[in-house]
Amino acid sequence: MTALRTGIATIALFAATPLTAQEITLYSGRGETLVAPLIETFTESTGIEVNVRYGGTAELAVLLNEEGAASPADIYWAQDVAALGQIKPVFAELPGEMLEDIPAIYRDGDNRWTGTSGRMRLMVYSTERMQADELPATMAEMTDDRFAGTMALPPTNGSFLAHVTALRVHEGDEAARAWLQELADNDPVIVSNNTAIHTAIADGEADWGLTNNYYLSRFLADDPDFPADHALFEAGDIGNLMMVAGAGVLESSDSPEAAMAFIEFLLSDTAQQYFAGNVHEYPVRGDAVAAFSGIGVDYGTASEAAIEFDLNELTDLEGTLEMLEEVGLL
Ligand SMILES: [Fe+2]
Repeated sequence: MTALRTGIATIALFAATPLTAQEITLYSGRGETLVAPLIETFTESTGIEVNVRYGGTAELAVLLNEEGAASPADIYWAQDVAALGQIKPVFAELPGEMLEDIPAIYRDGDNRWTGTSGRMRLMVYSTERMQADELPATMAEMTDDRFAGTMALPPTNGSFLAHVTALRVHEGDEAARAWLQELADNDPVIVSNNTAIHTAIADGEADWGLTNNYYLSRFLADDPDFPADHALFEAGDIGNLMMVAGAGVLESSDSPEAAMAFIEFLLSDTAQQYFAGNVHEYPVRGDAVAAFSGIGVDYGTASEAAIEFDLNELTDLEGTLEMLEEVGLL
């Protein structure tokens, strides 16, 4: 095609398109409905094709470990934090410039992976039956007798398991087990997931619960009068844990530059706006904050209140499940 063109036209053509068609493979723990439109935008703007293997975040982590350096994957994108620490040793280091606008709470301290959006752990409560100042000031205080029978709790929820794992890392296993036991003794309203916490509160079955920030925005988008609000714990308390969906480039990638370009795209205004607008998660870049369309605790307040915590430590969800069984929550 270029053979018939003049030299100048050929140069213009080469400047506008990559010399060779590039292709990368993404293992995505994030769902197709969320990810596919973004990938289309990436491919349109860079010419880089993306093959995607969708799956559960934990399942893809197991697959990556099995495949080792022979994996076709260039990028691993985890829906939640639990697998990132596990994959960290086989992630390549991301360029420091790429991450300079990302606060420490949203990324790996060694630049092996970055959060792509944030989910704050916080409390949601009934505005019909509670005042914000009646809520516990710390995660430790959640087990106070005055909360007997009022809290909605999803024991099998992944974010709850990760959060209890964080408590174990922060306070030690003995303290965490005692906390869980007191929580169980307080007779919580057992629900299946975070969505069910919110419906239990709206239906009057529970008054409050520990959840992720983006659910309330979804309920309020459907019903502006949804009778609940958010509250944080004291600044720096382990209750205020910022968790992320995150991604990194595998060291074994044979297209690291194209893979890095994809990570860079996930941190762009376009993608940050997309996560905030479509799934009401927090952007990970402070200067993309205008993109946050959620309701409740704003980005700045959440980021400042969040505890500094190494999310790579949240790998032992199995041990946490065992503890939940021991105290009778499972
Ligand atoms: Fe969730």
